[in-house]
Amino acid sequence: MKKCSTIIAAVMLGCCGLRAQADGDDSFVPANPPQMQRLTNFDSPAWRAAGHFLRGVNLGNYLEVPPGQSWRVTASAGDFALMRAQGFDHVRVPVGWHHYAGPAPDFALSPEIFSRVDFVVTNALDAGLSVIINIHHFDELDQNPAAATAEFLKIWGQIAAHYAKFPQRLAFELDNEPHANATTAVMNPIDARAIAEIRATNPHRTIFVEPGGWGSIGELKHLVLPPDDNVIVSAHCYDPFYFTHQGATWAGPDPKVTGIQFPGPPKKPLVPDPSLKLHPWVLDWIHRYNTLPADKNPCSPLAFEGKLKYCRAWSDYYGRPVHIGEFGCFTTADPASRARFYGAFRRAAEQERLGWAIWDWNAGFRYWDRQNHRPMPGLREALFGK
Ligand code: BGC
Repeated sequence: MKKCSTIIAAVMLGCCGLRAQADGDDSFVPANPPQMQRLTNFDSPAWRAAGHFLRGVNLGNYLEVPPGQSWRVTASAGDFALMRAQGFDHVRVPVGWHHYAGPAPDFALSPEIFSRVDFVVTNALDAGLSVIINIHHFDELDQNPAAATAEFLKIWGQIAAHYAKFPQRLAFELDNEPHANATTAVMNPIDARAIAEIRATNPHRTIFVEPGGWGSIGELKHLVLPPDDNVIVSAHCYDPFYFTHQGATWAGPDPKVTGIQFPGPPKKPLVPDPSLKLHPWVLDWIHRYNTLPADKNPCSPLAFEGKLKYCRAWSDYYGRPVHIGEFGCFTTADPASRARFYGAFRRAAEQERLGWAIWDWNAGFRYWDRQNHRPMPGLREALFGK
């Protein structure tokens, strides 16, 4: 699907391993640290902005790719018009800014990365899309948050100054999928400093913040946000993981089995190849996928409905909009299952009044079939039908 540097490959491995774990009980009980204030104005800038980030698509595997590598994704002005015409209202643009930062103490960003991001942002805005730009795969911040904080803040200071006069339909997202040593608790004060840095030049800009644990929904309960009224919380959900990541070579040893359909159970039980030497928990999941009825099957909307409900309840209680910044399914799954999955997830998110963004536009989890100039089978109906 793409060429990964060793670091990125390691990141993805850990990432997907953790994503595979259940978040536990999905019922909502207010549990955030007492410093997390509840906001009570549901007509704040954040809530109004959330209405511009309802149905989105990630321009994945493009501007986050380290310099000198290509993961075979290109983007032209026409892509943004296409996204809009398909029905998306926003595009999330992962960016590897840190690859273009000069030495300490200024960490000056190169003009090259600004011109590439400007191209995407201006064309997307011109096409009528709202836009989220983030910092993606900033490994140093995940491994050693204390040491990388100065760079993180300097990068945001420069991005914020550069885009200060851009329309408010451009939003910033602080950090994609914090993980490893960048736990939610460690990142809370660092994110608060980044928000303050951005606010110095962008008092009205919408800012998205992700919790740790790879942006997992189960981590929302550890967030402490400043009482800023233009912050949206973003979480990621790739459940059911063995279905969505089947055959994903970067995703560790567990999602090796392909041929998993959505929803389960399959008509003919799936018999995994013993030479794959699957872990007992994967074999157990496959057994339940093969045998449990639709209303109890782990490869069904049960895998995400409770989590999305939790997001809604958390959001209502803490007074912060929640956005699902990534969900999706690799193209190794059969096309009909992919379409059913995207449709079921999208409907469940909308049922809970959550904005969403699929992973991705035209890479390994693609919506758009560039070769044939049309959406992948069933995906338009899945995302924009009833
Ligand atoms: C990563 C992608 C990956 C996707 C699905 C994203 O967060 O940035 O590289 O393909 O998750 O695993």
